[in-house]
Amino acid sequence: MIALITGASSGIGEATARRLAREPGAQLVLVARREERLRALAGELGGDVLVIAADLTDEAAPARIAAAVQERHGRLDLLVNNAGAGWRGTFGDVGTANLRRTMEINLDAPARLVEALLPLLRASAPSAIVNVASTAGRVARPGSGAYSASKFALIGWSDALHLEEKPHGVHVGLVNPGFVATEGFPQAELVDSFATRWMVSTPEKVAEAILDAGPGGKAERYAPRPYRLAALARVVMPGLTRRVLGSGGGAVLGTSTGADAADRAAR
Ligand SMILES: NC(=O)c1ccc[n+]([C@@H]2O[C@H](COP(=O)([O-])OP(=O)(O)OC[C@H]3O[C@@H](n4cnc5c(N)ncnc54)[C@H](OP(=O)(O)O)[C@@H]3O)[C@@H](O)[C@H]2O)c1
Repeated sequence: MIALITGASSGIGEATARRLAREPGAQLVLVARREERLRALAGELGGDVLVIAADLTDEAAPARIAAAVQERHGRLDLLVNNAGAGWRGTFGDVGTANLRRTMEINLDAPARLVEALLPLLRASAPSAIVNVASTAGRVARPGSGAYSASKFALIGWSDALHLEEKPHGVHVGLVNPGFVATEGFPQAELVDSFATRWMVSTPEKVAEAILDAGPGGKAERYAPRPYRLAALARVVMPGLTRRVLGSGGGAVLGTSTGADAADRAAR
């Protein structure tokens, strides 16, 4: 199985690479900006690992990645669109500039990568795409509107793509993580409090969900599974959900969207 994972330099992407490396015959392609991180991981995993350092928001990145995969393997069985980021702030404070940069990495980048790799995925069918969205793509919280907008959009696009690619033998799975402690999303406010620590999961659990949503797998997985109740509550009890999120719950949960490594380094 040839599997490409974006955002493999940390968090959920790194855990997914480690998990996929244990699959028999797995040959990985690791993509992110921090090349040294990818090379260190590739060295640790051993075997046939292709490292591609790329900023996925660059215009030329998708074509360059597709050419490298075509040249090295001539096929692709699994594409995991995991790279993503979020920057906190109310719309009144951070405005459309924040919306634009968030949509660029969380929606445009995976869509452009799929566009470049779809011919190879179809030619390799049965194959799969797994898009890593978020429970925030079902329920919006104060302070992370741009992030939620990007993940709502990613989910809508993935649902359509699932139906469109089925006849071509390309399974499209969706994974919606809840709160997961990673570099970009440390969830510090939740982890620091005994009352909320239980809500925070691990990248390894999400990696298992990504495998579940991979080739021949599920159309949608929450990780951990109980987070689907938050999405359900938003649909069946919208008024109550808004009241909870607009009060103390929103204040706590609204602080959990992090920034990517480059942004953190700049601060
Ligand atoms: N952690 C959570 O609570 C949580 C919850 C729901 C959904 N998610 C989603 O899960 C995914 C992974 O997040 P994470 O928690 O593992 O965060 P993370 O540790 O910050 O990982 C993000 C990954 O994306 C890569 N990335 C970011 N911008 C990129 C760009 N422009 N080009 C290429 N790669 C880029 C980063 O690599 P480089 O910096 O090396 O480029 C990094 O490997 C994201 O889509 C996120 O929205 C996370």
